[in-house]
Amino acid sequence: MKLFKYTKQALLSTALCCYGLTAISQTIIPAPKEFFVGSDCFYINENTSLYTNLKGTAKKDFEKYLSTLAAPFNQEMKTYKNNKDNSIVFALSPSRFHESEENYTLYVNTRQIIITAPTTNGLFYGLQSLLQTIKSHSTKGAEVPCIAIKDTPRFPYRGFMMDVSRHFRSVDFIKKQIDALARYKINRLHLHLTDAAGWRLEIKKYPRLTEFAAWRPVEKWKDWWFAKDGRQYCREGSTGAYGGYYTHEEIRELVKYAALRHITIIPEIEMPGHSEEVLAVYPELACSGKPYQSGEFCIGNEKTFTFLENVLSEVMTLFPSEYIHIGGDEANRKTWESCPQCQARMKAENLKGTSELQSYLIHRIEKFLNAHGRKLLGWDEIVEGGLAPNATVMSWRGEEGGIKAVRAGRQTVMTPGSHCYFDAYQDAPNTQPEAMGGYLPLSKVYAYHPVPPGLTSEESELIHGVQANLWAEYIPEDKQYEYMMYPRILALAEVGWTFPERKSYRDFHAKALQEVEKLQASGYHPFPLKNEVGHRPESLQPIDHLARGKKVTYNAPYNTTYSARGDSTLTDGRRGDWTYSDGSWQGFISHPRMDVTIDLDSVTNLHSIKADFIQVIGPEVYLPCEIIISVSNDGKQFTEIMHLHQQVDHNRVIDFKTYGWQGNVQARYVRYQARSGLQYGGWIFTDEIIIE
Ligand code: ACM
Repeated sequence: MKLFKYTKQALLSTALCCYGLTAISQTIIPAPKEFFVGSDCFYINENTSLYTNLKGTAKKDFEKYLSTLAAPFNQEMKTYKNNKDNSIVFALSPSRFHESEENYTLYVNTRQIIITAPTTNGLFYGLQSLLQTIKSHSTKGAEVPCIAIKDTPRFPYRGFMMDVSRHFRSVDFIKKQIDALARYKINRLHLHLTDAAGWRLEIKKYPRLTEFAAWRPVEKWKDWWFAKDGRQYCREGSTGAYGGYYTHEEIRELVKYAALRHITIIPEIEMPGHSEEVLAVYPELACSGKPYQSGEFCIGNEKTFTFLENVLSEVMTLFPSEYIHIGGDEANRKTWESCPQCQARMKAENLKGTSELQSYLIHRIEKFLNAHGRKLLGWDEIVEGGLAPNATVMSWRGEEGGIKAVRAGRQTVMTPGSHCYFDAYQDAPNTQPEAMGGYLPLSKVYAYHPVPPGLTSEESELIHGVQANLWAEYIPEDKQYEYMMYPRILALAEVGWTFPERKSYRDFHAKALQEVEKLQASGYHPFPLKNEVGHRPESLQPIDHLARGKKVTYNAPYNTTYSARGDSTLTDGRRGDWTYSDGSWQGFISHPRMDVTIDLDSVTNLHSIKADFIQVIGPEVYLPCEIIISVSNDGKQFTEIMHLHQQVDHNRVIDFKTYGWQGNVQARYVRYQARSGLQYGGWIFTDEIIIE
């Protein structure tokens, strides 16, 4: 074959001079590994022919995908014979550079476009890059700048997780997201199909899962979760029933749709926790034998294994994915401590503690999956109590679980909450629809490096990739789901695909601004990046004041999980961002109030004493309902200079407020006390006590 006559040199000499990286690096998301840009163009028009050496199903599938795109690509591919002008060539070339099966090269000169790759995945990604480089349409056709790209992904696994349990999403909605994910070279779609809020997959052997466990009488998760009369399920088709599930037929269609776009759908079936909905309809699988008592399967009961294996058998007939995700997160292990069957299992299997009991279940399920040629994937709790021999770990509670996994020789997919949980606010919370809390702007997603420092090269090789998760508790609407997904998924795509030396947030941000407009024009509902407010202004600059660097005595301790920078936090001049977990906000819970005394070293003239507080209703972080500020010259006798009682507005899901005193007083010691605005406890967070 002479497909490769147009080497990079040929390309550059016929058409172009290489004039820098900016233009193209501001076009393709994720940024390719090597690229050169020329000043000339190729025009795709109705006379442009498509050629390929693909055959059979591979050719048909490629054509089928092309036919879904807007013109000028919806045409048949001819068999390649020799180079022809005004053509686009898709050439499978198994011997091409072989760093990854997803490699491709894309050459564009004034006469031809040539995409070569060792697999159809690579050809598909070459096509995606080509589609993203089409600049404009004129009478000559669609303009593509002359370029030379040689590209390969950083990680084999580049994933996105959709939570379809908390709020159900239609097949069409998922397909729409698959279209976009493919554009950004994401290759795994993990569906969180089961959870307390609803079971979402038809299982023929267990019809009650979809007749009842897929439906609830309340639409919004929040109203259902906090319902005064408890969380209930209801019959499919009953008045007001909210929910849904995917039939076998729909799943097969979805799997095919994704495969055509080189995306593997990974199903997640939760066990042994997060299973309230199953136990509500099959209560014999719960330790208590009763519905609505717990969310954990009884591991002592053989019926649990019969159920799980039957379900997984059906799942495997539907999803060809190598990985089957079995959840494994957040099981309340206490449930098993008082269960005679679980205790008997622990004794019989010589299991020390309930972590090992959970691990017993995971090991058994792994054996079952492996026997059927599949691999087990689970949240990082599966590391505890003895990691199953072939399991892959999804590290979500930071990177520790993933580090332990790779040190034990297992693969891991990094998805730490700090950088990959898209249910957090993406901008200043008071400008955003209600979210789970936290603050994860585009820049922070982009800054993520999935390989933690300190790993050996063998361990680093076991970092299989990266995934973003979009939990849907606070997302009833489809539009809002897209809003939370885009453009952050673009940043994640670049984290997963682009080599660190090619990453530049400045370039990416410019591309993302354009891409948001394209997404909008294509009917998506991304967050309008151009309106981004960004970090909390107070967090950007240190503040100087009289108490800066002065000693703080804690009359009530701070919580060790939210210690921020320890004893120096409240007088270090550094203020927090839009989330209490950023390491600048200090949290208090074990005592009824925050209570600190600051020693200014000498008696000083004071005019202002103030502190900021944050309220996030979900995790019970409240503004103060009572504040006392007092001063002293000897540190023993204090005089109250402010005592505030206030009603905290529990409807404000997120809020930031400053409380303080102004006046004239002389003192050496300042005591600041604040009590959380939740009647029975609750958190209180502050970042700095500013004295002027
Ligand atoms: C998780 O967020 N519970 C995996």
